[in-house]
Amino acid sequence: MINERAAYADILQKILTSNVPLSAFKDSLPNAQKNFFNMLFLTTFRQLTFIKEQVLPRFVQKKIPSKQKILSYVLYLAITELLFLETPDYAVLNSYVDIAKKSTDKFGANFTNAVLRNVLRHKSELLSLPLKSYFSAEFLKILKPDYTKDEILQMEKYVVVEPALDITLKNSAPNPFANGLTLPNGSIRLPAQTKVSELPGYADGIWWVQDVSASLAVQALSDIFGKQVLDLCAAPGGKTAQLLDAGAKVTAVDISQERLETLRENMKRLNLTDNLQIVCDDALQFSSSKKFDIILVDAPCSATGTYRRHPEIIHTKTRQDVLQQAQLQKDILEHAVSLLSDDGKMVYVTCSLAKDEGEKQINTFLKQHSEFVAAPISVLGTEHMLTKEGYLRVLPQYFNIPGQPDLSGADGFFIACLQRKI
Ligand SMILES: C[S@@+](CC[C@H](N)C(=O)[O-])C[C@H]1O[C@@H](n2cnc3c(N)ncnc32)[C@H](O)[C@@H]1O
Repeated sequence: MINERAAYADILQKILTSNVPLSAFKDSLPNAQKNFFNMLFLTTFRQLTFIKEQVLPRFVQKKIPSKQKILSYVLYLAITELLFLETPDYAVLNSYVDIAKKSTDKFGANFTNAVLRNVLRHKSELLSLPLKSYFSAEFLKILKPDYTKDEILQMEKYVVVEPALDITLKNSAPNPFANGLTLPNGSIRLPAQTKVSELPGYADGIWWVQDVSASLAVQALSDIFGKQVLDLCAAPGGKTAQLLDAGAKVTAVDISQERLETLRENMKRLNLTDNLQIVCDDALQFSSSKKFDIILVDAPCSATGTYRRHPEIIHTKTRQDVLQQAQLQKDILEHAVSLLSDDGKMVYVTCSLAKDEGEKQINTFLKQHSEFVAAPISVLGTEHMLTKEGYLRVLPQYFNIPGQPDLSGADGFFIACLQRKI
């Protein structure tokens, strides 16, 4: 247990200081450790603002010296275990104090021991404190310019709701999920703990996992059959599968060879390899002799809308990341215009909550490109998500299912349909 936890403190430090996603570490762990690792890290990220802002300041008066910075990460994990998980108290104390000793010195061990004993002594008092926020100050700096206090409060509730599992079913396939909840757009929602590979129809390739919000972008396009579609930034291929299933001829481009391999495997399982060309290229460089009827720009973004599944995002993303991604998105959009046919359509999508990567991006685009208009979007069940400009702004709370909190929520997304005037 000590060796594992020591490695976990290092991993936590890497995630929080180098913007490396949690998923990058999970795959390399032995299977026996994966479940606990996942639970520990997800809980730590969900509770980290509380731990940093409401727990630690009570017991740590001085700044931890930078040479002993690892102690902060040891404390974050240990406090998560003491307050929110069921590990016996003595095991938490022994293992994390030992890690502190091995990674720093006797002083570090005594300090860790004193803080953790204090936390234990005040456990029930700490757990009854009114929570100030699950979002970090940096994350709030991203949200506050764009959303009201109430909207942010609503979003915050979903930090601690384990996301349900959403499935997109092939158009012609029968629904094999008797107990699934069918959402208005046709996505099927299953409980969070569902094991994907044990679901019926997996080997037959009649469905794939896709958050309901992600599925709306292709559904926003009404007329796809037989069209030449360029899927820029395509991997791992959730939207590529929807396009192929709707009868499009798809060129799927992505900068990552590894992610394209996943796309290839996914399309193989789904039997959707006809009408598909896969190209590894930078969306800013990709060139083609033919023009496309439809271009899907599922642009790289800050991914702030996926904070329910990836709660590390609450602590790692900054305004600077948003602005940097917004510039890349603008450049990709500009390049995409040159690949579009004279009466073509573009769908622009991001899983970001920041309007610089959504509404503002497209407002600016339309100002600078008078040859485009925002085309109307009509997807069942999304009427309340339409903005005044006719875009779709999806927030987690817009998928509130009354009486079923565990089956509520969705990723935050932005979708705009842009039609070139003839
Ligand atoms: C939001 S994900 C795409 C999700 C995908 N469309 C789906 O539905 O499954 C963004 C993708 O953009 C790719 N990407 C990032 N920068 C890129 C670039 N400059 N050119 C092409 N692809 C890029 C990433 O590798 C990643 O796969």
